[in-house]
Amino acid sequence: MKQVIATVTSNEQLWGEHKVREHPKYLGAWLIRLKCPEIASEAMPGQFVMIDCGEGCTLPRPFSVHQVEEGSTISIFYAVLPNGRGTAWLSQRKAAEYVGLFGALGNGFSIHPKANKLLLVAGGNGIAPIYFLYREALKKELPVKLLYGTLDDKRCSIFPQTNVVSFTEDGTVGYKGKVTDHLPEHVDWADQIFACGPLPMYKTMAQMPELKDKHVQISLETRMACGVGVCYGCTIRTKSGLKQVCADGPVFDLHEICWDELSGL
Ligand code: FES
Repeated sequence: MKQVIATVTSNEQLWGEHKVREHPKYLGAWLIRLKCPEIASEAMPGQFVMIDCGEGCTLPRPFSVHQVEEGSTISIFYAVLPNGRGTAWLSQRKAAEYVGLFGALGNGFSIHPKANKLLLVAGGNGIAPIYFLYREALKKELPVKLLYGTLDDKRCSIFPQTNVVSFTEDGTVGYKGKVTDHLPEHVDWADQIFACGPLPMYKTMAQMPELKDKHVQISLETRMACGVGVCYGCTIRTKSGLKQVCADGPVFDLHEICWDELSGL
């Protein structure tokens, strides 16, 4: 784990403000690139960094590593909501400015040495860590399929479409419906399954008979204060006892989590 001051190399808005169900206003999504070779050289898919988000935020904020580029730069894909002080601050950063962060943290996804076909499932902003794994799998020339579910075409069209099956809730791109509606059809194809998405997606997956005997690695996104296992602010209940998302996760087996006791992810 390294603590660094990174240079912002770019910070682009991928899409802008629009209404999203439970949020009266969703201010959009951004992709920031941070030059930090110390972290980029060791970051693995599924790991995260803690970013110092300015004077208005006393605590750093966790962000999944979205990509590593040229071994020296990490990118972070993040959404800005009306009450998101940290992400609002981050969205204002310009190229050549500096941002403090530490990482890479957490256990990350692990591809079994004997696994061949990888099924990746991303719901909404869950594409952030899944895309890193998707790129790694392509680099290793492993057969990979990414099921990517979003609300509408805005979100769907920004990622390359090789081996990607798209779902939109309004039916504007790909199949109409949620990614979990069609997941059972793809389960038999896969040797290993990885997922990241909102809590309802995980709760649906945990109930699927097709996934009952499968090892499914999921990445949890929770509120964190320290990010390193000190404050116990990210504790969750699992079938093998209490765990800290930052230090024991954020990647867990789908069937290990006591989903009924989790809320507000
Ligand atoms: Fe402090 Fe996990 S955020 S223990």
